Amino acid sequence: MVYTEKDKQYKRYTITSALPYANGPVHIGHLAGVYVPADVYARYLRAQGEEVVYIGGSDEHGVPITIKARKEGCTPQDIVDRYHKIIKDSFAKLGISFDIYSRTSSPLHHETAAAFFKKLYDEGRFVEKVSMQYYDEEAQQFLADRYITGTCPRCGNEHAYGDQCEACGTSLAPTDLINPKSALSGSKPVLKETKHWFLPLDQDEGWLREWILEGHKSDWKTNVYGQCKSWIDAGLQPRAVTRDLDWGVKVPLPDTDGKVLYVWFDAPIGYISFTRELFGDDWEKWWKSDDSKLVHFIGKDNIVFHCIIFPSMLHADGSYILPANVPANEFLNLEGDKISTSRNWAVWLHE
Ligand code: MF3
Ligand code: ZN
Repeated sequence: MVYTEKDKQYKRYTITSALPYANGPVHIGHLAGVYVPADVYARYLRAQGEEVVYIGGSDEHGVPITIKARKEGCTPQDIVDRYHKIIKDSFAKLGISFDIYSRTSSPLHHETAAAFFKKLYDEGRFVEKVSMQYYDEEAQQFLADRYITGTCPRCGNEHAYGDQCEACGTSLAPTDLINPKSALSGSKPVLKETKHWFLPLDQDEGWLREWILEGHKSDWKTNVYGQCKSWIDAGLQPRAVTRDLDWGVKVPLPDTDGKVLYVWFDAPIGYISFTRELFGDDWEKWWKSDDSKLVHFIGKDNIVFHCIIFPSMLHADGSYILPANVPANEFLNLEGDKISTSRNWAVWLHE
């Protein structure tokens, strides 16, 4: 990212870096691809005398955290408490200059994310849909895709998951599995009706095309621009923003016991709630003023969420600015492996 003359029109910079999941340590690929570049950008702008806030924190919801807790016989809160501390310490030791490093399990975040959802709900921005989903009658719970295993219809692997077969790489829907089995109780799940709320992304194509494909053709990185273009060209589909799960931000509506906001709905709102946590009543200028430049530093697997889905949420609200840039890095490679899988570098960070 270059500091250009055009930037002079901005009075302040709101810089975020992707919130790491609090279910494992942060590794060198994340640091090199996301946190160090964002830190350099923030430090550079501060050195130029610019007004900057650099926001970070842990992403503490989602199914993998509940799976890890179940495996270890502890609560999801225990898991995130452990890893939030480890990650936060790593960043502190490295000297990443966050102005705040918070977490999505905090009460202020829950309140902010729930209020964001409620406003969109009240304004009729969601589409409500009832669908059939696998339910474990023994455990009395709806099953996340990852909690269902069975035989892959493509390659016959008997340990495929409800979202993907790891043997052949095919992405699956839970109902594609032959002989589905619940990972909670081992019983055969049954299909049961459940209601969810969807963000109608199909209605966003027009302004997204104009904003990204025309507006950011020359200043967004080609990998980011290219991914956005192929998503938009393929035709955007409505996305569910709620899940049947007991870990996350509770859906703020009556009769929604056992339902939470989808982790990718609440997590980016973390950028906003952490800004609130830092500035109190003075937070809005960082998010709602045209002379603020919003920049999200992310890994490349987060592109669609930061360039299409989160902006669609902000746009639906109507009072927020949109990101001016979304620098996304390719994964680093080391000896032919994705560096994230090649070694646990967190050990080194903790010595
Ligand atoms: N936790 C996600 C990941 O590691 C990133 C979340 S970024 C946010 O892929 F926008 F959701 F906060
Ligand atoms: Zn398979």
